[in-house]
Amino acid sequence: MQLERIMVIGAGQMGGGIAQVAAQAGLQVVLNDLKPEYIERGLATMRKNLERNVAKGKITAEEMTAALGRITTSTSLDDAALVDIVVEAASENMAIKTEIFKTLDRVTPASTILASNTSSLPITELAAVTKRPGQVIGMHFMNPVPVMPLVEVIRGIATTDAVYQAVHALSLRMGKTPVEVNDYPGFISNRVLMPMINEAIFCVYEGVATPEAVDSVMKLGMNHPMGPLTLADFIGLDTCLAIMEVLYEGFADSKYRPCPLLRKMVKAGWLGKKSGKGFYEYA
Ligand SMILES: NC(=O)c1ccc[n+]([C@@H]2O[C@H](COP(=O)([O-])OP(=O)(O)OC[C@H]3O[C@@H](n4cnc5c(N)ncnc54)[C@H](O)[C@@H]3O)[C@@H](O)[C@H]2O)c1
Repeated sequence: MQLERIMVIGAGQMGGGIAQVAAQAGLQVVLNDLKPEYIERGLATMRKNLERNVAKGKITAEEMTAALGRITTSTSLDDAALVDIVVEAASENMAIKTEIFKTLDRVTPASTILASNTSSLPITELAAVTKRPGQVIGMHFMNPVPVMPLVEVIRGIATTDAVYQAVHALSLRMGKTPVEVNDYPGFISNRVLMPMINEAIFCVYEGVATPEAVDSVMKLGMNHPMGPLTLADFIGLDTCLAIMEVLYEGFADSKYRPCPLLRKMVKAGWLGKKSGKGFYEYA
């Protein structure tokens, strides 16, 4: 199953990065979002990234122009009829993703692979709203996509081997290292990472230490490149809370209880870097 044409849905933080990496790998890319201005914002970020790579000598100006030339834009999911695979990177919301998957199932040929970049929502449940559960798979890139080598490739309960192999090969072509994961809450990445971040927040909540102290221990003592609270601010505290809720509900186990301080900060609108305030202040 050779995949040459890809639609990326959502031109945000993740979708823009996925589109960039796919275009650099030589695929024809359709970048979709709700409004032209959202796509333009994604493309502007992409151009800035690529220009930085040209300045650093990592790619040539010709390679940048060629990559950008492989990207077309779309505000209609009907355009998915022309691609081999769709990677959905819209907002992390089951109702939004369900609607998108239902529409894609209607407008694309039965052979089209439908992938989701969801951080935490069940692939099997998304697959169940389509008539092609075998063609549905998780393709979980890490942020920032152009920099991070990992893709978790998540098999829903019905995902076929042929689809898994095609997505594994596509990940390699995009310069990433695919890791096979079965569909359980949080996959591997967030099942391991988020409880650690949540526990770091409990340390602050219980007065064990300041955010700076917690981050210092994990950086200097455990060799983490970034402390867990800095990382939480970077991911977005609303996203961290949403993922903890998925783990808490999905396993029905109190060990995944979101820290009350995390809930309080999200209610206050302190979402981390994107809102200017989280565990740290951002200019
Ligand atoms: N941010 C991260 O660190 C990260 C990491 C891995 C995976 N993810 C996952 O990637 C997905 C996107 O996250 P993000 O951080 O890029 O979010 P984002 O808010 O930056 O971008 C989401 C984009 O989706 C668009 N969108 C919403 N509904 C749409 C629809 N119906 N059709 C087309 N476009 C639509 C929005 O307009 C927005 O541009 C989520 O599922 C998230 O869980 C995020």
